[in-house]
Amino acid sequence: MARRKIIAGNWKMNMTPSEAVKLCAELKDLVKSDEADVVYCVPAIDIVPVVEAVKGTNVEVGAENMYFEEKGAYTGEISAAMLKDAGVKYVIIGHSERRDYFKEDDVLLNKKVKKAIEAGLTPILCCGESLEQREMGVTMDWIRLQIKSDLVDVTADQVKELVIAYEPIWAIGTGKTATTEQAQEVCKGIRDCIAEMYDDATAAAVRIQYGGSVNAGNAAELFAQPDIDGGLVGGASLKADFGKIVNYK
Ligand code: 13P
Repeated sequence: MARRKIIAGNWKMNMTPSEAVKLCAELKDLVKSDEADVVYCVPAIDIVPVVEAVKGTNVEVGAENMYFEEKGAYTGEISAAMLKDAGVKYVIIGHSERRDYFKEDDVLLNKKVKKAIEAGLTPILCCGESLEQREMGVTMDWIRLQIKSDLVDVTADQVKELVIAYEPIWAIGTGKTATTEQAQEVCKGIRDCIAEMYDDATAAAVRIQYGGSVNAGNAAELFAQPDIDGGLVGGASLKADFGKIVNYK
């Protein structure tokens, strides 16, 4: 069965609640699609108004982060159950900005992935190499390590529902997109890794996005690749261009 494309915006630390509601109204007609799942991953404070703003549309809402503990004394954190109750469907886990600026490691990310799944959320698990790693020729070794560590104790059935986002760090927010060949090669490498860890059916089911300077001009070529099932879009998800990316064909 063909995998359904999934095109997600990652708003990062942009959009106040009132700006968020305005953006949802602006994008509403532009992001209509019968062929792709469309997701807005938004700052925590925007979740409640955005869930309300996209009611009755084809857009689902995602969070950009969560904590793995059930509840309790974790000042400033947000639990999977809170996200679920607020109407969130997806949660980005392990974005390179969180790995880098907030020192999130694979042991922590594995706990977050498992908790998200347990709560009924779909993780968008991010992986990707730095420019130095690419130049050293260790891209695939690094990404395999991330995937294997982040998916410890996650079952094949759970992985089938998962979204993995390949985001080369050097392509994020830089305007420097990976070439189509580079993006396809790593997304295929991730699928091969899943096949080794689980089986062919699991590898064939898991959706793998590319992220890193995706825009209205390069989306069609990237998303046409056999192992690229859509995109995780930063900057271009905050403007009308996101509609063109969703309707890339
Ligand atoms: P840009 O699309 O702004 O490069 O960001 C990519 C990204 O980090 C999405 O998670």
